[in-house]
Amino acid sequence: MSDELGTAIVTGAAKGIGRGIVERLVGEGYHVVALDRLDAVHDVADGLRAAGGNIESAIIDIRDREAIAALMDKYAPIDVIINNAAITDTHPFEELTEDDFREAFDINTVGTFVVAQEGARRMRNGGRIVNLASRSFAGAPNMGHYVASKTAVVGLTRAMAIDLSPRDIRINAIAPGVVDTDMLHYMSDEMQQKMLSLQLLGRIGQPEDIARAVSFLCSPDNRYITGHVLVVDGGRSLGQGQLPPEESPYA
Ligand SMILES: NC(=O)c1ccc[n+]([C@@H]2O[C@H](COP(=O)([O-])OP(=O)(O)OC[C@H]3O[C@@H](n4cnc5c(N)ncnc54)[C@H](O)[C@@H]3O)[C@@H](O)[C@H]2O)c1
Repeated sequence: MSDELGTAIVTGAAKGIGRGIVERLVGEGYHVVALDRLDAVHDVADGLRAAGGNIESAIIDIRDREAIAALMDKYAPIDVIINNAAITDTHPFEELTEDDFREAFDINTVGTFVVAQEGARRMRNGGRIVNLASRSFAGAPNMGHYVASKTAVVGLTRAMAIDLSPRDIRINAIAPGVVDTDMLHYMSDEMQQKMLSLQLLGRIGQPEDIARAVSFLCSPDNRYITGHVLVVDGGRSLGQGQLPPEESPYA
C-alpha cells in the first residue's frame, strides 16, 4: 500500500490541522514526512511510528529555501505535498503594520510557494499538491493581512494547476471554515461562542474534517480535479451565510 501511495510531505504538522492530516495519511498507508518549526513535530511522528506508521519528521522553517530543497532531495521522488503551515492573528485595519502584512505573506504565501516549487521540481508526474487556504478569502474582520495572504494562495493554486498540468500534477486548495485548533483558541470564550452560533451544522470543525477533504484531493484516485478551491466550512457560506436558520430574517 505504502509503495502505491508513495511519499507525502506535510508542513505545519506539529499540531492542529497539520497533525490531523498526518494522522490520516499515515493511517491510509502513505510514507509521510512531517515538517514544522516546532520540536513537537517529532513527538507527533514518534507516536505514529510507535503505532506502526511509516513517518519521519524534520524541524524546518518553510521560508528556508535551502533547507526545503535539501529535504526534498532527500525524499525525492515526491508524490504528495500538503502546504498547511501558516500563521494568523488579528489587527483592526487602521492598526495593521507593514511588518504584520509582510510576515503573513512571507510565511503563508511565499513559504507555500517555496515548498510547492522545490517539491514540484522533485515530484513524480501525476503527483498531487493541496494548499491550505481559508474560507476567509471571502472576507473576515480584522485580518486584512491573513485574508490577503490566503487569497494569494488561491491564486497561486490556480496558476500552478495550469503550469503543472503538462506533468499531470493536480493542485487544489482547501478553504476551511472555523476549525478547533490553537488558531481558534486565541479568541475569547465569548467570541468562540459567537463563532459556534454562526455554524450552520451546529458545531465547529475538527482537524479530521479537514484531513478527510485533504485525503480526497491528494489521493491518486483524484485524476480530474485541479485548480479547485474546496470550501470545508460546515455550510457556513451558504445562503445568507452568517446566521443560523432560527435567526434568519427569511424564516
Ligand atoms: N483553524 C482554523 O480555524 C483555520 C481556518 C481556516 C484556515 N486554516 C488554515 O489551516 C492551516 C492549519 O491551521 P491550524 O489551525 O492547524 O494552525 P496551528 O497554528 O494550530 O498550526 C500551524 C502550524 O504551522 C506551523 N508553522 C507556522 N509557521 C511556520 C513556518 N514558518 N515554518 C514551519 N512551520 C510553521 C506552526 O508551528 C504550527 O505547528 C493553516 O494554513 C491555516 O491558515 C485554519
